[in-house]
Amino acid sequence: MKVLLLCGGEGTRLRPFTHSIPKQLLPVVNKPILYHILEWVARTPLREIVIVTGENQGVFQQTVGDGSRWGLKISYVCQPRPLGLAHAVLTAETALGKAPFLMYLGDNLLEESPEEYLSDFEKKRLDSLLLLRKVPDPENYGIAEIKGDRVLRVVEKPEKPPGNLALSGLYLFSPAIFQSIRNISPSARGELEITDAIQNLLDRKKKVEYRLLTGWWLDTGSPDALLEANRRLLGKVAPASLGRIINSRVDGCLYLDKESLIENSKINGPVYIGAGCRIKDSTIGPWVTVGDGGTVTGSTLKNSILFSGARVENFALHQSIIGRRALLTGGHRPDQADAAPLQPFSRLLLGDDGVVS
Ligand code: G1P
Repeated sequence: MKVLLLCGGEGTRLRPFTHSIPKQLLPVVNKPILYHILEWVARTPLREIVIVTGENQGVFQQTVGDGSRWGLKISYVCQPRPLGLAHAVLTAETALGKAPFLMYLGDNLLEESPEEYLSDFEKKRLDSLLLLRKVPDPENYGIAEIKGDRVLRVVEKPEKPPGNLALSGLYLFSPAIFQSIRNISPSARGELEITDAIQNLLDRKKKVEYRLLTGWWLDTGSPDALLEANRRLLGKVAPASLGRIINSRVDGCLYLDKESLIENSKINGPVYIGAGCRIKDSTIGPWVTVGDGGTVTGSTLKNSILFSGARVENFALHQSIIGRRALLTGGHRPDQADAAPLQPFSRLLLGDDGVVS
C-alpha cells in the first residue's frame, strides 16, 4: 500500500501566513505540519508516499526531499489547478498504480495510528474505509449518514446535515475509486469532491465501511486550529534542557533547545523554545512555542506561536501567531519604574517579516 498525501489548496483562512508558506509547511512546535505527518507515517508499516502539490512543488521538494530522513520514499505529482480532492487523486493515478492506498490530507493531524484500520481494510478487501469523527459544525465537512455498521450515504458540506459524523482527512481506497471519480461531475464550488466519489462507490454497491476515530483529529486550516494543534502537540513533548537557564523559574514542562538562553524569566509549561533563542525578563506560557532563533524581551506570551527568527520586545501576546523574522517592539520597558502596563493583544496575527512598533 502507498500513501497519498494531498498538499494543494491555497490556505486562504490562514492568510497572511500562507502568502509565504504553504499551509502544510506552517510550523507547529517548531517544525512543519508535514513533518509531523511524515513522522506519523514512519510509525506505520507504510513506506512509499506520493505527494500531490500545486504549482509550488519546489518548496515541498526543498523542505521534505526524498523522505529518506524518515526512512520513507517520497515522489511528487503536480496538480496544476486546484480542481478538488478527487481531481488530485486522479492526477496521482499513474504514480499510485494498481494497489490500494491511504489518502491523507496534508493539513490534518491525527493522534492515533491507523494500523488496526489498515489490517481491517486489507483483510476484508474493502473498496473504502472511512474514518469518522463527531464534530460540532457538520455543515463544514463531508458528513456520513450511517445505520448500524453500514454507511448509507455521504454528503459534502450539507446545509441540513444528516448527522454529525465528519469524514476526517484520512481515507483508505482500492483502485475502484478512480472509476468513481470519472463518474462524477464538479460540485457547486467547481471541484471534483472526494465525498461525491465515495457516494458513487456506494451507488455502485462497492464495499464501503467506516470506523470511528477515538483520539483527537485536527484540520489545521485556521489560526485557531493551528493554535490548538500547537497545544495538542506541546502536550506530547518531553522536557529537555539543552540550553542555559539563569535566575529564572520553570514550572511545568519546558523543552529548551541548544544554544538558547533563558534569563530573569518565568516559564509556565508546556513551553517549547527552539535553538538559538534569547528569552529575557519575560513570562512565557502556558502553551507557547518560540521557533529557532527567536528573541523575547520584557514580554508576556500565552497560548501563542512565534515562527523562527521572530523578535518580541515589551509586548503581551495571547492567542497570537507571529511570522518568521517578524518584529514587535513596544514603547515601554516593564522593568522601568515609570513604565505603563503592557497592553495585551488578545490576538495578533502577523505575517513573515511583519513589523509592529
Ligand atoms: C475536505 C473534504 C471534507 C472533509 C474535510 C476534512 O474539506 O472535502 O469532506 O470532511 O476535508 O478536513 P475542505 O478542507 O476541502 O473544506
